Parts: sequence; structure tokens; C-alpha cells
Amino acid sequence: MLRNKSYKVLGILMALMLFAGCGAAAEDTAEPELLLGFSQIGSESAWRIGNTRDIESAAEEHGVSLMFENANQSQANQIDAIRRFIAYKVDVIAFSPIVEDGWDNVLMEAREAGIPVILVDRDIKTEIDGLTTCLIGADFYNEGVMAAEYLIRKADELGLESVNIVEITGTENSTPMRQRQAGFADTIAGDERMHILESIDGDFLKSRGAECMRYLLDTYGDEIDVVYSHNDEMTLGALPEIENSDLVPGQDIIIISIDAGQEAIDVLKEGRINCVVECTPNLGDELMETALRLKNGEQVEAVIHPVEQVFSDEMDVDSIGPRGY
Ligand code: AHR
Repeated sequence: MLRNKSYKVLGILMALMLFAGCGAAAEDTAEPELLLGFSQIGSESAWRIGNTRDIESAAEEHGVSLMFENANQSQANQIDAIRRFIAYKVDVIAFSPIVEDGWDNVLMEAREAGIPVILVDRDIKTEIDGLTTCLIGADFYNEGVMAAEYLIRKADELGLESVNIVEITGTENSTPMRQRQAGFADTIAGDERMHILESIDGDFLKSRGAECMRYLLDTYGDEIDVVYSHNDEMTLGALPEIENSDLVPGQDIIIISIDAGQEAIDVLKEGRINCVVECTPNLGDELMETALRLKNGEQVEAVIHPVEQVFSDEMDVDSIGPRGY
């Protein structure tokens, strides 16, 4: 609400400046270096909230005027927001696409208006060249690889001969869902001990994580050796369900999560999660610097991935510092 209000205030100010014929008051006002429209997916996770916070503070630090829109998990809302950014004639548009398909029309409109578009966090699928300039976000495939590599090491350490895995996946047709699944599946493919019993859509939500885990426990019971969950939120939803079934997460079932937010790291320290692969939400500085370069007509890199690490029971978990999200 607050953000929408500041968006409106910014709009009113711009309109006043226009209708006043750019008079003396407007001339005195220092123009922001850059007007950036950013459409966020929603507030589905601590990760997403941390990402929003980081983008807002980076905008402030870089003197960027930010038009922020929260789409509340709706692709239609994101498309509407991008159209509003085009109407406002922002300098650069950035957005985190909730799913990969369905962006061609609105992005062709942005291209027509001559406004460069930056993808943040997630990618899109398109047959059309040149709709976006670059992608700033995690290497989700590698996150899946790192999760699987941990599991292979853990199975070796425990001397397991057969490993039954259930996978709780993120939002269907989203980049992290597809790539975390592929990276994990490709990495365990050569290991005959590994069997995925089922992959089920948890939509990156805590409540869905709990529902999925309930169903998986009802269906497979103590056959489950491993839960591979595509984000912390779903993992945190799943853990109480495991405990309600008189199983001990981290001991009876190996728990692997992705994001490495504070709450999951605290649970890792308690021994109820075994491994958390980092996915950093801190993309704000890179976004502001890239947007400023685009406004100045400079070339930017097509893909920018942050460096990420793995936190697990293989390390001294007490040495892990505050995560900030
Ligand atoms: O796209 C990044 C993913 O989206 C994060 O892993 C998840 O927590 C968020 O909702």
C-alpha cells in the first residue's frame, strides 16, 4: 500500500511538472539520473521480501527513482505493471517473471517504445530475439547440482545402498523450478542408488509445503529417505508434518533446501535440516548499476550470476554468520 502510494505521488509530481510547462519550480528540481520501473512477483517467501528490501535500498543508494509494483503472484498484474511503466515512459523496465511463458506481447510493446528491459531473478521463454537486454539472477541449475552433490556425499558417508527421494518443487513453469529440478536430476542420474519417488508442486509456499509433505507421508510413509525442497519456505512448512508423523527430520529423513534464509539456517544449526544451498536475494546493486549503464547507452553482460555456496552438516554450522533475509 505504502509503495503504491509513493508510486502515485511520483506520478502526480511528474504530471504537475509537465502541466506547469516545466516552469521555474521544475527547473530547480534535480532530475533523478534514472527512472526505473520494477515489477516484483509478490511476497511469497522471506527470500522475496529480502529481495524487495535489497532493491529498494540499492535504488536509494544509487540515486535511482524507483517505481515499484508488487504483482501479488499474478502474471496478469505483472503485465499490467509493465504497461504502466511504458505509459510513464520510464528509462528502464525490470521485472522478475513469475513464469517463463507469455511475455512476448508486452515486451514487444516495451521494445516499440524503445525502453530496455532487464530480467531480475528469473528468465523467460521466447522465440523472439532482443526483447530483453540481460538477466541478473542465480544459476538455478547449479543450485540443483550442488544439492545433488551434497546428497551423493551424504549417501556415501552413511553407506546407503538405496535412496528414496521426494521432491517438493517451486511454481510450475518458473525458472527456478525447472532448473533446480533439472540440475538435481542430471546429477543423480548416474547414481543407481537414487530414486525419485515423486515430484510435487509446492508453489514456493509454506502452506503448500505442509500440504505436499502430508500427502507424501500418507502415500510413502517411512519409505522416504530424502526430502529435496526447492525453497526454504516449503521446507519450513514440511518439517512439522514430518515431526507429527513421529519421524525426526535431519536424522530419519535427510532434508535438503534452497535459499539459505535466516530461519532455515537456524534450523540447520538445530540439526533438523541437513543442507541448504544458497540463493542470494541481494541483486539490487547489480540491477542499479546495469540499469544506469543501459541508460548511458553502454553494453551490458547478457547474464550475470551471483556466486553462491552450500551450508550443510558437513561444516561447522556455528560459524555461519547472520544472513540478512
Ligand atoms: O526465484 C527465486 C525463488 O523464489 C526463491 O528460491 C524462492 O524462495 C522465491 O519465492
